[in-house]
Amino acid sequence: MLQDKDRIFTNIYGLRDKSLKAALKRGHFDGTADIIGKGRDWIINEMKASGLRGRGGAGFPTGLKWSFMPKEVGERPHYLVINADESEPGTCKDREIMRNDPFTLIEGCIIAGFSMLAHTCYIYVRGEYVREREALQLAIDECYEQGYLGKDNKCGWDYDIIVHHGAGAYICGEETALLESLEGKKGQPRLKPPFPANVGLYGCPTTVNNVESIAVAPTILRRGGSWFAGIGRQNNTGTKLFCVSGHVERPCTVEEAMGISFRELIEKHCGGITGGWDNLLAVIPGGSSVPLVPGADIIDAPMDFDGLKEIKTSLGTAAVIVMDKSTDIVKAIARISYFYKHESCGQCTPCREGTGWMWRVMERMATGHAQKREIDMLLDVTKQVEGHTICALGDAAAWPIQGLVRHFRAEIERRIDEYSHNAHEVRPVLEA
Ligand code: NAI
Ligand code: SF4
Repeated sequence: MLQDKDRIFTNIYGLRDKSLKAALKRGHFDGTADIIGKGRDWIINEMKASGLRGRGGAGFPTGLKWSFMPKEVGERPHYLVINADESEPGTCKDREIMRNDPFTLIEGCIIAGFSMLAHTCYIYVRGEYVREREALQLAIDECYEQGYLGKDNKCGWDYDIIVHHGAGAYICGEETALLESLEGKKGQPRLKPPFPANVGLYGCPTTVNNVESIAVAPTILRRGGSWFAGIGRQNNTGTKLFCVSGHVERPCTVEEAMGISFRELIEKHCGGITGGWDNLLAVIPGGSSVPLVPGADIIDAPMDFDGLKEIKTSLGTAAVIVMDKSTDIVKAIARISYFYKHESCGQCTPCREGTGWMWRVMERMATGHAQKREIDMLLDVTKQVEGHTICALGDAAAWPIQGLVRHFRAEIERRIDEYSHNAHEVRPVLEA
């Protein structure tokens, strides 16, 4: 359980004054120039020592990612790009940072930019986040006015931050699609490798980081990597913003220690499950891209990368979607399938064709208007999509269905039996 003194976000609910003046009093920009004065190697080593893993969903070690950038600037400028295209269903943490605690992000951008020799940072904000973009821009403007950004600033590193507003496409949250979009092109993912550190924005060395990953960096560097590493568990360190939605008494976004159990997270911050623990059906613990798990499996699981891997799901963005027994679980996953079909950029065949096919079969499963042999056929198609596409959207479309079949096959079969009993008709199989 996280103690108040270890919270990084001091204004995540926006209850306190959001001005730069008030943020300075709360400790923001305290010793930024000193941190920069310690040099790039010190910063990157502290980030590595902290064990911070990327908070955008994939959990790639942040310090390691920063170390991939070339150590000298050649003919190509270096860029830092912040992925604020927070679109994963259920995820609503970065928006709270931008709305309410934006100076954590701005200070992080300056320090991270310095450590990677970037003088320019782009923050790519999700199209629907109008208020967040406005709040962030206001904070950036204040930083320019008060001499924390721009040339010869108080932090000791010439730095510009440019906010770019997306147009509402989920796929632009994929880092290379985001770069394409920033360049003014259609937002379609690139093949990796090369990774952005080698060929990124305008073909230049670029690091793309999630908002939360960058926003926690200044506090890590002020308090030391070992302080952050002392919270949570080995390989799963630090604090994390969890966004809990669905069938809990009080949905919320809350900063907690990595590895907190699901039960404690819900009881301490969300007022429990609606109707009590016996009413819990299933949980999607990391945003819609990760497999659901039955309630009984997750109750005592540590909410971190390794704890959730053990029960065959993932921490993802830590967007915890709670479903009680009133949920039509098959319909819920069918709805998620529709989302991925809608958001597929259409660039690769398994995803373009597979997401539509999976959605149509899922709709039939939801009503029972299917045949039992289609369940294995559906599973087979998810396996053909998974791992065979340019970006992770293909996997994201496959995994929720695999989770459903793994844990709720009996429910799908029950619906098919019920429909057969009532309809007495022969249903065609939707061929793959
Ligand atoms: P990924 O594992 O391919 O990459 C993660 C990061 O590590 C990237 O920045 C990548 O460039 C870097 N990386 C990985 N291997 C590398 C290597 N060998 N050398 C250099 N850099 C390397 O995962 P991806 O596709 O970036 O993200 C997938 C995740 O995103 C999913 O797990 C999902 O949870 C999450 N997601 C989050 C959303 C949000 O709204 N925050 C939206 C959609 C998905
Ligand atoms: Fe586009 Fe889907 Fe291929 Fe990703 S997996 S590049 S979203 S078609």
